[in-house]
Amino acid sequence: MRSLFDLLSEALPGITPMHMPGHKRNAALAEFLKHLGADMDITEIPGFDNLHAPHGILKEAMARAAGVFQAGHTFFLVNGSTVGVLAAVRALTRPGESILMARNSHLCAYNAVTLNQLNPEFIYPGISQDWQITASLTPEAVEEALFKRPDAKALLITSPTYEGVLSDVAAITRLAHGHGIPVIVDEAHGAHLGLHPLFPDGAVKAGADIVIQSLHKTLPSLTQTALAHVRGEALAREMQRQLGVFETTSPSYLLLASIDGCAGLIREQGDELFKVWGKALAAFDRLALRLDHLEVMGHGRHYGKLPQNAWDLDPGKLYISTSFANLTGPDLARRLREEWRIEPEMAAPQGVLAMTGMGDSMDTLTRLGEALIGIDQQLKPAEGHKAAYPLPKAICAMPMHLAERAPFELLGTENAAGRVCAEQLTVYPPGIPVLVPGEVISPEAAGFITAAREAGAALLCTRSRGEGLAAVLKDA
Ligand SMILES: Cc1ncc(COP(=O)(O)O)c(C=O)c1O
Repeated sequence: MRSLFDLLSEALPGITPMHMPGHKRNAALAEFLKHLGADMDITEIPGFDNLHAPHGILKEAMARAAGVFQAGHTFFLVNGSTVGVLAAVRALTRPGESILMARNSHLCAYNAVTLNQLNPEFIYPGISQDWQITASLTPEAVEEALFKRPDAKALLITSPTYEGVLSDVAAITRLAHGHGIPVIVDEAHGAHLGLHPLFPDGAVKAGADIVIQSLHKTLPSLTQTALAHVRGEALAREMQRQLGVFETTSPSYLLLASIDGCAGLIREQGDELFKVWGKALAAFDRLALRLDHLEVMGHGRHYGKLPQNAWDLDPGKLYISTSFANLTGPDLARRLREEWRIEPEMAAPQGVLAMTGMGDSMDTLTRLGEALIGIDQQLKPAEGHKAAYPLPKAICAMPMHLAERAPFELLGTENAAGRVCAEQLTVYPPGIPVLVPGEVISPEAAGFITAAREAGAALLCTRSRGEGLAAVLKDA
């Protein structure tokens, strides 16, 4: 069995490239080319198959990956989970149709809905007040939506969330299938699920129709690499066709070889590597027991405990709450960065997310544990209760695809309440929109945005570019 990396290493030397890319695999041209792997950087040339019509080494590599992830069909993606979600939604819906969709979906899911001019019916996940995060989507909430919108063509949910909260995807999928509705699971944060007893099972095993995973988020693979797992021949053919719409015709073989390499590593050394990850997490757990003010969800003294309204947790995520300490999430992130040279994944107003991955070791997670203890020892209990800002409920006034192109005016956030939003406003990370085009700007939404700005969070605004809010002109 020859990996894509083996083929690149063996077959390229000695061939004079009269084809793209323009660096001609001449890594000696510049230091950056040498370090970025230009000597293996090709796109589709004879002998290396074609991502959009695979019949050779890529077809074999994808079949091997399907075996590792226990999927029917597996597609390699070189533009992250983003391209998988765009293609999955287009594979299952036609313009003007309805889709059931979790409101805590990533912005790429909203873009898929806008591009396909769909009518979304939002399903709200529970909230974990104790950790101030979005919790699981309940089967009951999904069932309510299924009865409300029997015309929906697909259900799109996210599990696990950015912070590692899982939903009962098996129960949700059974319900949706009972109504004849296929299920897409954005499992961008769960590529490692179901591969070892250390982690819970994922959406492929739960029977979802399309499962999208970012390999690059938790497994050892280069940034942008992802997988789409599809059940059934007909849907797999449609997915292939739709990936052809959204994905580049010049896929990077560095990324493709990385995906194949990652799947191979899990197949051959997965057990051992998951054990190392597990030992590192256990070492962190022991250190987290010594924290007095900072709290780590599902770890330390919260080991084995689920947050409110959470169905299950991914132990690979370390969500550190600052709710009971006299500092904010951004303060903690800054101290980790400046005093300990540790860069966390994300800072929320009252917490910091540290992501672990297969590349972690006893060293990295012990260092994080010791840093938290060092900071914790200088903290005091929080003074007073810290305000919570749950994701506000959406009130739809206009289809998303019309509002995103409607004439608009820029208003100060304080004057925008009651108007119809003309843009997508997303706090990044985690990349969940607070407002999407066509929704009424409620006082709660305006308050959420002001609080996020004050907390120093990055706001992605598709029209207002950071100042105020874009509202649809009244006579538009
Ligand atoms: C839940 C979720 N879905 C999809 C994506 C998009 O993934 P990618 O960056 O691999 O395109 C992200 C990215 O953060 C995400 O958090």
